[in-house]
Amino acid sequence: MKAKININTQTDISKIDDRIYSSFIEHLGRAVYGGIYEPGHESADDMGFRQDVMKLIKELKVPMVRYPGGNFVSGYNWEDGVGDKAKRPRKLELAWNSIETNEVGIDEFQEWAKRAETDVMMAVNLGTRGADDARNLVEYCNSSTDTYYADMRRKNGFDEPFGIKVWCLGNEMDGDWQIGTKRPAEYARLACETAKLMKMVDPSIELVACGSSGPQMESFGHWEETVLREAYDHVDYLSLHSYYGNPDDNSQQYLGSAAIMDKFIKDVVAICDKVKEEKKSEKSIMLSFDEWNVWFHSNEQDKKQKPWQVAPPLLEDMYNLEDAIVVGDLMITLLKHSDRVKIACLAQLVNVIAPIMTETGGGVWKQTIFYPFLYTSVNGRGTALKTEVQSETFTEGKAENVPCVDSVAVISEDKETISVFAVNRKLDESAELDIEGLEGYKLVSHISMEGDDLKAGNSMAEPDKVTPVTHEVGEGVSLAAASWNYLSYKKM
Ligand code: AHR
Repeated sequence: MKAKININTQTDISKIDDRIYSSFIEHLGRAVYGGIYEPGHESADDMGFRQDVMKLIKELKVPMVRYPGGNFVSGYNWEDGVGDKAKRPRKLELAWNSIETNEVGIDEFQEWAKRAETDVMMAVNLGTRGADDARNLVEYCNSSTDTYYADMRRKNGFDEPFGIKVWCLGNEMDGDWQIGTKRPAEYARLACETAKLMKMVDPSIELVACGSSGPQMESFGHWEETVLREAYDHVDYLSLHSYYGNPDDNSQQYLGSAAIMDKFIKDVVAICDKVKEEKKSEKSIMLSFDEWNVWFHSNEQDKKQKPWQVAPPLLEDMYNLEDAIVVGDLMITLLKHSDRVKIACLAQLVNVIAPIMTETGGGVWKQTIFYPFLYTSVNGRGTALKTEVQSETFTEGKAENVPCVDSVAVISEDKETISVFAVNRKLDESAELDIEGLEGYKLVSHISMEGDDLKAGNSMAEPDKVTPVTHEVGEGVSLAAASWNYLSYKKM
């Protein structure tokens, strides 16, 4: 098949906010305990943080990590995780039927984040708690005043405020699985009043209101409108969450997943702008796609886990090649919407639906999805350029009229490099590309995720079974059937 990609180096989509390459660590399964934190592990530092894991996180250049949940946050008392570790309570954790030891809390996590060269994106509990606890937490983290919670932080050993800039107003509050589910109007009021108080404590923070938990929710649309009508002036971002998967084992349909994300983003932008218009506001609400990934492999095995374990292996999806292609494609979609998507968090980072896996007491290895995230995060910084793609489309099951090829181009700040990210979603046909608009630039490298076995994945025993393929750079560019590609062009 033939496809054409026209890159307009004179027309920007937007300067990309680096926080589009953020991720997420929840107190869930082995993300924290046995993941980023394992005192006694041979690579643990003085605070018990695994250095082997941290090294891979730094490789991914993740600018911000959402914490501590997810569903977990809706039953969490942040005070349980600060101060003297010996006095911290061991509690029933109701979101994931586990036991939370509270050995790690915000005191430790913000220190971990510094060491991992990333920022914290903090979520507050609007499930079992509310505005009062949220504003206290902002004071604990960010205030330099001589007042109760800022003093508590100092007594706990932290003279300097943590300076946490971005805060989530709860998590998936419309989901009936959520601890303290809310009706739309109920959450809208709570989010608005909580936002006001949090900004009174620290006016420099940015706030993310919960959108509905996904486009499949019955409340989708109505929820967003209700929340924005109430809280528009007090919040900066609206959250989007979505997970993709191939439970029907229909790879062609699955490779069309990014089209679903694309529509979801467009629908949410339309809602935000409708409310902006109603309010005659100067401000545009930006999007925080703060949970996205592939998640479905571990669903059945998770049902077999016994309740009330400390750090049980939950949501440990083992990713394969087709998942990596979909993840790369989802990143292309996020970049195509970088004028509105300013924050996006790959959910999650370690062990739980994650690019990085550990063995408790053992080694660390990279899942297939590590690679498209790595190449896009490292090379996709700068400005997204308007990129038009002409290709055939396919229809397969729920995927209707999906373009076989999609692409986005990013020009670096110094304009020396243009990175083109491209996907061929067609299972059985390669795509011969005609790339226009890159006069003055020369192709210097072509790396892809492709292979004969779409179901192949990595493991501790075979950590390099699926790795990127480096192509000889010649005259034309061909995208293999079912492949994700990174093409690097340098100024001549
Ligand atoms: O990322 C896993 C879970 O997915 C999060 O806890 C929740 O917010 C979502 O449903």
